[in-house]
Parts: sequence; C-alpha cells; structure tokens
Amino acid sequence: MTPESNFAKNSAFTFSIVFSCVLAYWFGSKRPDKVSLLSTTPLSSVDTKGPKHNTSPTNLEACWTDMVSIVDKEHVSTEEGDLQSHSGSDWSSYTTKDSERPFMIVSPSTTEEVSEIMKVCHTRKIPVTGYSGGTSLEGHFSATRGGICVDFSRMDKILKLHKEDLDVIVQPALGWELLNEELGKEGLFFPPDPGPGAMIGGMVGTGCSGTNAYRYGTMRDWVLSLTVVLADGTVIKTRQRPRKSSAGYDLTRMFIGSEGTLGLVTEATLKITVKPKHESVAVTSFGTIREAAECVSRVVGEGVPIAAVEILDDVQMRCINESGSTSRTWKEVPTLFFKFSGTQSAVKESIGLVQKLAKSKGSKSFDFAKDADEAAELWSARKEALWSVMAKRRDESDHVWTTDVAVPISRLPDIIEETKEDMASSGLLAAMVGHVGDGNFHAILLFNDKERETAEAVVHRMVKRAVEMEGTVTGEHGVGLIKRDYLAHEMGETTVDAMRKLKQAFDPLCLLNCDKIVRVQKAKAGEVQPW
Ligand SMILES: Cc1cc2nc3c(=O)[nH]c(=O)nc-3n(C[C@H](O)[C@H](O)[C@H](O)COP(=O)(O)OP(=O)(O)OC[C@H]3O[C@@H](n4cnc5c(N)ncnc54)[C@H](O)[C@@H]3O)c2cc1C
Ligand SMILES: *[C@@H]1O[C@H](CO)[C@@H](O)[C@H](O)[C@H]1NC(C)=O
Repeated sequence: MTPESNFAKNSAFTFSIVFSCVLAYWFGSKRPDKVSLLSTTPLSSVDTKGPKHNTSPTNLEACWTDMVSIVDKEHVSTEEGDLQSHSGSDWSSYTTKDSERPFMIVSPSTTEEVSEIMKVCHTRKIPVTGYSGGTSLEGHFSATRGGICVDFSRMDKILKLHKEDLDVIVQPALGWELLNEELGKEGLFFPPDPGPGAMIGGMVGTGCSGTNAYRYGTMRDWVLSLTVVLADGTVIKTRQRPRKSSAGYDLTRMFIGSEGTLGLVTEATLKITVKPKHESVAVTSFGTIREAAECVSRVVGEGVPIAAVEILDDVQMRCINESGSTSRTWKEVPTLFFKFSGTQSAVKESIGLVQKLAKSKGSKSFDFAKDADEAAELWSARKEALWSVMAKRRDESDHVWTTDVAVPISRLPDIIEETKEDMASSGLLAAMVGHVGDGNFHAILLFNDKERETAEAVVHRMVKRAVEMEGTVTGEHGVGLIKRDYLAHEMGETTVDAMRKLKQAFDPLCLLNCDKIVRVQKAKAGEVQPW
C-alpha cells in the first residue's frame, strides 16, 4: 500500500468519525425530551413555538367524521350558539376571545366513548376541553387552542348508592343539587355546595367548596375514587371504595383541582354522610365590616359548633335588598349569616353563644329562624349574592368579575378591611361576600370596558394582599386563565415548574385544556401584570 493511499484512508476515517459526531449532536439537539433529565419543567426549557397541535380544517373535518362514528351525528354539534355557550359565560371573570371557541362539541355517553374520542384526538393532535355545568368563573373552559369540547351532559346518572357504606358512584354531569335531592330521600347528604348548576365532573375539576366547607371540608375530602380517561385514551381508576387507603400515590387528589388538564373524569365514587336532624339560621348585622370579621374570628376561636358562616358587606346587602328576590327587606349594612346543625338543643345553645359573641363585637341586630321555612328563607338571601349584583348591570357592556382569595383566619379582619377600602375608593360597584369561617371571601365587581383596568387593579391588589398574608390566590374557584401568573408568587417558581412537569408527564402533547393552571408557552410582552 502506498503512503498516499494510507493517508487518504486515514483522513476518510477521521472525516467519517467527525461527521457522525456532528450528525449525532445535531439529532440530539433536536430531541425535545432532552429536558426530561430535569425534575421540573421550567418555562425556559419548553419549546418557544408551543405545543404542536393540528387544527387544520381538513384534520378537524376528518375528526368530525370520526366523532360521528363514535357518538352519532345528533351528539356532535358545530352550531354557533353551542360553541359560544361552551367557551364562556356572562358570569365568568374572563372574557372569551372569538378565537377561543371549540370547532365542535361532542357528547359521549360512556367511559369507552370518551376513551375512543381521546384516542382519535391523540392521533390527530387535536386539543380537548371538558365541560360539565359551565359555572366555573376564571375562564376555565375557554377553548384557547380550539379543537373539541367534550360535553358530559349525557353522563348524568347515579350509578350505585351504597347506603350501608355511605358512598355513591356517579357520572360527571350529575348536578350536586339533584344528587342531594335523591340522597335526601334516604336521610343522606353530600356536602360540597358550589354554584347552582355545577356538576360533579366540574366540581372535581375545580376542587370546589362552598358554604358547607367550614364544617365538612372541600371536594378534596369527599371523593374516594375516580375513573379517568387520560390524554391518549388510556382509562384508569384511581382506587377502590374503602374510606381510607395507603396504597401508593394519591392520584385521586391529584386529579381534584386539575381543571381538566390531566384527564377527563368519567365516573366518581363520592363519600356521603347523614343529613343533620335539625338546622337553623341566624342573621346578625354590624356597623363596620371589621366588626363583622372580628366576630367570625371570635366564634371560630371559641370553637362554637356552627355549620357555616357567611359575610356579606353593605354593598352586597344593598344589591340583595334592592333586587327584591327574597320575600323580606334587608338592612343595607355588613351582615353575618350563620347556619347551625345538630340536635334541637345543641342548635339552640350554639345560637345563644353566637348571639353573645356578636353582641360583644357590637352587633346591631340578631334574628334567628323560628322554623325550617324561615331558615330556608333567611339563607336564600346568601344564595342570591352573584345574581343580585349582576342585576345591577347598567347595560349590555357591563361585565362582572367574581374573584376569591383565602388567608389564615387571624388575618381575615385585616384583609377584609383593606380590600373593602380599596373597593370603595375604586368607584366601581364592588361587593364582598364570603365563606369567612375558612378565611375565604369573594369580591364581585361590576365594570364596563372603560373601567376594566380599574377592576383588574382592584383584583390584583386583593390577590397580592392575600399572598403577603400567607394566603392563597384562590380559595375555591380555581386558577383557570386568570390566576395562572399568580401561582409562582404564592408557592414559588420551582413549585409551578414541578406542576408543569406533572402536566407534561400525563399529557405530553398538551391536548387537555392546554394553557390552564400553568403556562406551557412564555407570556407575550405586557401580558402579565407586574407584581
Ligand atoms: C352563582 C355562582 C356561585 C358560585 N359559588 C361557588 C362557591 O360557593 N364555591 C365554589 O367553589 N365555586 C363556586 N362557583 C363556581 C363553580 O360553581 C364551581 O367552580 C364548580 O365547581 C364548577 O362546576 P361545573 O360543573 O360548572 O364545571 P365547569 O365550569 O363545566 O368546568 C370546570 C373545570 O373543570 C373541567 N371539567 C369539567 N368537566 C370535567 C370532567 N368530567 N373531567 C375533567 N375536567 C372537567 C373544565 O374543563 C373546567 O376547567 C360559583 C359559580 C356561580 C355561577
Ligand atoms: C330595602 O328595599 C326596600 C324595597 O326596595 C326599600 O323600601 C328599603 O328602604 C330598603 N332598605 C334600606 C335599609 O334601604
């Protein structure tokens, strides 16, 4: 062999080594799962172009044909009115953009059908948003990436009541009010009580609660097991029916409050309890909101057994009084609504204790129900809060903003007083109402497009105040699109990055309610308000 040919051979060899290395490096740098070595998914590590969905008209039309073969034509809708009502509502704080509508709505009737739907969407890379009662408030079901909306309305049954075990298996579109009507016939009861019209699927979605949470806890405490369809159509059941279990990760709770971002709930096994034998309601009014809030701290601190306590400020009471939606008139001053339950004598005793504590905090009046009808009548005023503010809309351009935060109970008088002053000086019609026994309260603001920035600023300051008092940016309504960028302030950037990792693990294509709870793409300049 000549030295030249040897040299040629060597350089060819070197070249091929270098070339393969460069090629391997290039392929390596293209692989998106390079970040999977990290324990969290910081936003800086995700593809700036965002999730790769395919919502081209041809793909969506082909998907329509697939959906029709799964659920039948009559259960697939592309009607404008349906698309609109399934992407936003009048009572939501978020104003849905025209581009945030689904392409079609599909109504399955079984878990198997939901799984088939997800398999198609997974193959076709089409985004999916779940929809149950549509009463959520923070833009939870806006179809930010288009795609399809899975409406659970045909899955609305009680599947099995285990009276002796105090549990019930239900479908996602069963309303909590209807469930309680049925359970009531057996002397039983399911405590979580969010907005009228809310359904189990959405209640799991938001991890809701309500007036009963003070005594009974939230949705997180009342779900034993869930059947969930994952993003690729896989069906899982989180566990069986015993009241307790130490068997591994608590996937049930992981799905509660996940807002349809990790899977679609198609069945839930719920705990139920025995309906209290006797209930009563008392209403007491104060000169200032601070006195009312301090009264709550006292009652809670003294451990008086109450079932619920709600605060309504003067503005809220004025809206209720003026709406005339209850059969009596109301003083337009800060008011506490107490609910009591138990035996007749225990209830009587608790009412007496609360009356004494209220008086010591300067209460101006104290009324309590003489019978069940009066109790229902008094309590109905509380239920009218949001509607009575909405009734104040000056014209069609007015929107409502309903928001909620929660703080440790000892900080409640401070945050309520400061927020109240802020709301009053904003010049907006702004009412305050809340489940104060848990340190949780809501603000309901009325605003038009010119006043939007003022409203946003009031909400922003309220959220900031809650975080600074070691509270949470949402006690029960959830994150949706509006509270997303606040999460890092409440629990830290790395915690949100861990949540993003969880989202990615269960739904790598970001098909399920993409953009909710955590961002999967960096915010545009100016999109996030400075803290
Ligand atoms: C007047 C009024 C009063 C309210 N009061 C309260 C209150 O006191 N406490 C409270 O917590 N909330 C309250 N809310 C808010 C609302 O009722 C709750 O957030 C409720 O839990 C939403 O249930 P929904 O069935 O309407 O859910 P939807 O609005 O349909 O959905 C909520 C979320 O869950 C997802 N989802 C829906 N179905 C499924 C499913 N099957 N699987 C997976 N994800 C799903 C959706 O994509 C969405 O992200 C109130 C609302 C109104 C209008
Ligand atoms: C409550 O409303 C009624 C009916 O609109 C009104 O007559 C009454 O003055 C209001 N109460 C107060 C305290 O303003």
